[in-house]
Amino acid sequence: MDLGLDGKIAVVTGASKGIGLAIAIALVAEGVHVVAGSRSGSPELEALIRDGKAHALAVDLGSPDGPGRLVDLALAECGRVDILVNNVGAATPRTTGFLNVTDEQWAHSVNLNLMAAVRTTRAALPSMLAAGSGCVVNIASINANLPDPGVIDYGAAKAALVNVTKALSKEFGPRGIRVNSVSAGPVATDLWLGDGGVAQTLAAATGSDPAAVADGAAANAVTGRFTRPEEVADLAVFLASDRRAGNVTGANFTIDGGYTTETH
Ligand SMILES: NC(=O)c1ccc[n+]([C@@H]2O[C@H](COP(=O)([O-])OP(=O)(O)OC[C@H]3O[C@@H](n4cnc5c(N)ncnc54)[C@H](OP(=O)(O)O)[C@@H]3O)[C@@H](O)[C@H]2O)c1
Repeated sequence: MDLGLDGKIAVVTGASKGIGLAIAIALVAEGVHVVAGSRSGSPELEALIRDGKAHALAVDLGSPDGPGRLVDLALAECGRVDILVNNVGAATPRTTGFLNVTDEQWAHSVNLNLMAAVRTTRAALPSMLAAGSGCVVNIASINANLPDPGVIDYGAAKAALVNVTKALSKEFGPRGIRVNSVSAGPVATDLWLGDGGVAQTLAAATGSDPAAVADGAAANAVTGRFTRPEEVADLAVFLASDRRAGNVTGANFTIDGGYTTETH
């Protein structure tokens, strides 16, 4: 399937590893030049840069000016932004309940999972509006629709991100901009399986083993497994294609192996 993405310019946040890196690699494979933002780099991202397929900025996207600086790099190096993937985010299990989640923890979750996307979108939209076309893909979570006290602040921030996705699609759709979100269930990345990730944190809190926690999460999916980051990337890249997804906007796509049992 020709997605018609060759020569496009994409900004991808949180692109050094995990889902963001998979999206960057998948976009490059379609001929897209990627401008990647994360605090640190990775060998895989360095390889894309070495091949002339990507630029990267070392940036804290949780800082108020970080998102703007990333978009500025894209505009300076590439002249425009056609595609924005708001992927950066983080989840910390709240293992001792709502009453122990502090204002600082709430603010951190809302800042990274919602405000980073708001700020990056605000910075990128003028370029898209000038071109009369553009596409934003927001990486949300099934917790946007599955309220869970164990990730209460994360779920609330992702719910807000899905809400903002819809609102933006209404405001900017008539001017050629499509905005969609992808709500993933457990994905095999460091967020879940790495050092200090969800599996380790929950295991430490319950006196269990991280592998057993991960197996339990996998078993909650009808498919019995975690989603692979490359599978999330395929969905995001499809949504980025005006040629193939040109009438898809304001939509939230679930990719969770059937983890979610209700329809929405
Ligand atoms: N994994 C899952 O199960 C899952 C499920 C649903 C949704 N999601 C969502 O998918 C997105 C990506 O998650 P992931 O699993 O790929 O996470 P990950 O493996 O932890 O990767 C996170 C990426 O974001 C970057 N990052 C984190 N904090 C940053 C900051 N303050 N400033 C700039 N970059 C930052 C990291 O690079 P640096 O550390 O170098 O900055 C890394 O590139 C998140 O929005 C997450 O909520 C994940």
